[in-house]
Amino acid sequence: MYVCLCKGVSDRAIREAVSDGARSWREVRERTECATQCGKCACMAKTLTREAIAEDMMPADLAYAV
Ligand code: FES
Repeated sequence: MYVCLCKGVSDRAIREAVSDGARSWREVRERTECATQCGKCACMAKTLTREAIAEDMMPADLAYAV
């Protein structure tokens, strides 16, 4: 699904940025350009970024338990 219509950034693009090493909203924004125009997507994009970082940092064996 598209999160940022201005820049055409999807939730998948945010997750890919995190799996490629982004560890903060600032880094995700720099890599994807999400929320760099009107900014209406920022709240949703920050939430998705936080969730993606938490999932990416969780050890694989614990991910099955959740
Ligand atoms: Fe993301 Fe406008 S919807 S900057």
